Amino acid sequence: MKTVITYGTFDLFHIGHVNLLKRAKSLGDRLIVAVSTDEFNQGKGKTTLVPYDHRVAILESCRYVDQVIPESDWAQKRTDIAKHNVDVFVIGDDWKGKFDELSDLCEVVYLERTTDISSTAMKQAILVFTQLQKDLL
Ligand code: CTP
Repeated sequence: MKTVITYGTFDLFHIGHVNLLKRAKSLGDRLIVAVSTDEFNQGKGKTTLVPYDHRVAILESCRYVDQVIPESDWAQKRTDIAKHNVDVFVIGDDWKGKFDELSDLCEVVYLERTTDISSTAMKQAILVFTQLQKDLL
């Protein structure tokens, strides 16, 4: 049984997330997703439109995801890898090189991001759309 783990916020679940999770799952038999809690995001100065428990429920309903755990601090990765017998750590290549230090514990893989989509871009699009609707009134 080969176990894969990945980390992220997964706000406004979109096709970039689906592509990442599908490829991550294909690297093993079991995929664990560690989802940033609202408190952890606050500490990073990041706010989500979708609250933590909803992001968890959405990820749990994804066919590629076998288990969802909370990500509540930067330092938990080494403990998670040991606790869940992780073989492969996967993350998008916006983090390229940032987690090489974990390679003494497991394989570290950076996957190419899907182009032209992100939660941030979706939030900006919602703002623009809302403004256009107001202007039409
Ligand atoms: N990801 C991806 N392709 C995208 C967007 C995200 O492969 N277009 C990957 C990220 O590299 C990460 C995972 O999906 O491994 C979760 O990313 P997350 O930060 O939640 O998504 P973003 O859309 O990048 O969010 P933000 O705009 O808030 O940074």
